[in-house]
Amino acid sequence: MTALPRTVDGTRLLRRLDELAQIGSTGDGGVCRLALTVEDGAGRDLVVTWMHDLGLRVDIDGIGNVVGTWPADRFDPPVMMGSHVDTVRTGGRYDGNLGVLAGLEVIETAIDATVAGALDPARLPHPLAVALFTDEEGARFAPDMLGSLTYVGGLALEDALDSEDATGLRVGDELERIGYVGPQPCPGPVPRAFVELHIEQGPVLERGGITIGAVTGVQGISWSELTITGQSNHAGTTPMAMRHDAGYAAAAIATFVRRLAKVLGGAQVATVGRLDLHPDLINVIPARAVLTVDLRNTDPVVLLDARHRLADYVAELAEDEGVTIEMRSLAEFAPVVFDERLVAMIEEVARAAGHTVRRLPSGAGHDAQMLARVCPAAMVFVPSDDGISHNPAEHTDAADIAAGADVLLEVVLRLATDAGPLPPADDGSTGATPAEDTDPNDRHDAGVRM
Ligand code: GLV
Ligand code: MN
Ligand code: MN
Repeated sequence: MTALPRTVDGTRLLRRLDELAQIGSTGDGGVCRLALTVEDGAGRDLVVTWMHDLGLRVDIDGIGNVVGTWPADRFDPPVMMGSHVDTVRTGGRYDGNLGVLAGLEVIETAIDATVAGALDPARLPHPLAVALFTDEEGARFAPDMLGSLTYVGGLALEDALDSEDATGLRVGDELERIGYVGPQPCPGPVPRAFVELHIEQGPVLERGGITIGAVTGVQGISWSELTITGQSNHAGTTPMAMRHDAGYAAAAIATFVRRLAKVLGGAQVATVGRLDLHPDLINVIPARAVLTVDLRNTDPVVLLDARHRLADYVAELAEDEGVTIEMRSLAEFAPVVFDERLVAMIEEVARAAGHTVRRLPSGAGHDAQMLARVCPAAMVFVPSDDGISHNPAEHTDAADIAAGADVLLEVVLRLATDAGPLPPADDGSTGATPAEDTDPNDRHDAGVRM
């Protein structure tokens, strides 16, 4: 037997990325494939067609997660790759898509090696799989990472199916509409390991002139939706002291969380990304405002403190302005630490291939953080130009994409051939660090704890 493949076909990977980016293209280099829309369905269909073309077994579960496995007749725990193909409304072409298509490319490289006689799949102790998980972005249905959370049993299938978008449409109905309700059970089978290639979506690698990031973990996330109810009245005739202005209260909250992040310092970030005013007219004091707050920190204690300070401020503001403010938790995820054996292996593989490499935590949420609850999991990052993501201008150089996919290939082949650092699959060890999610509801409000 000749040597195992060391590199993927980077051109083939880029071609697929380009083809997938045409679906839901916004015409400015960006992509709009919000979860479970017709565009998301069409993107999924293309990837599933590629999976079938390569002879993978394609399994779809009750929340619409798609897993392609090679060899198709193997049912033992696979070394799983993957990510998501849904995007934010103004997304780029790499976020999520790279992880799915790089996983497909790794499998096609293994198939090519088999055809060339370099690899005997019958002697591969663990099959390979690539997954695309439903609604990773959470931009339409909360929480984010909905599909992978359900896959690992962190959210009951019925609850996931009942999540609604801002217009009241249900995940279950939208999944059915695009034809992605599958027969496989949730939670799904536990993989031997999970490795996700993703763009960094931040500036660290590019600024440091580093090609490969060995991701140590993911920061904690707290998402809330606030509904403010005041009283609409005439903008010209209502004295300032008589106002119950939901628009003002929303603006005050946006300013508060920005200041809060500055005061807490360190890794704390805070964003108001959605704000709807009603009736949304120039000469009417807003009667109602709905806004979202996204708080994140690598330190769970500071994150919880931020959440409590926000709740305290909201209570005070409601009193002062004479409005009611309902605060609903949309997602609460504790920081996640990835499997040290895999992180070290990614570092070693990248170095051995001659790449510069740095360890770093992820600022964005990822499916790998959910898989880490049940199996050894880790991520490989490649640089994002100017640190820009969730933006049509999102870009990663072709050479970096190929480098990341090559590292993914080597890591996955090591894990699948038992050359990696994991114990044999049957020793009962998952290597998983169970996630202890913070509970924002222990003081103030009644929301859903994930
Ligand atoms: C997903 O992209 C997130 O981190 O919001
Ligand atoms: Mn992503
Ligand atoms: Mn994203």
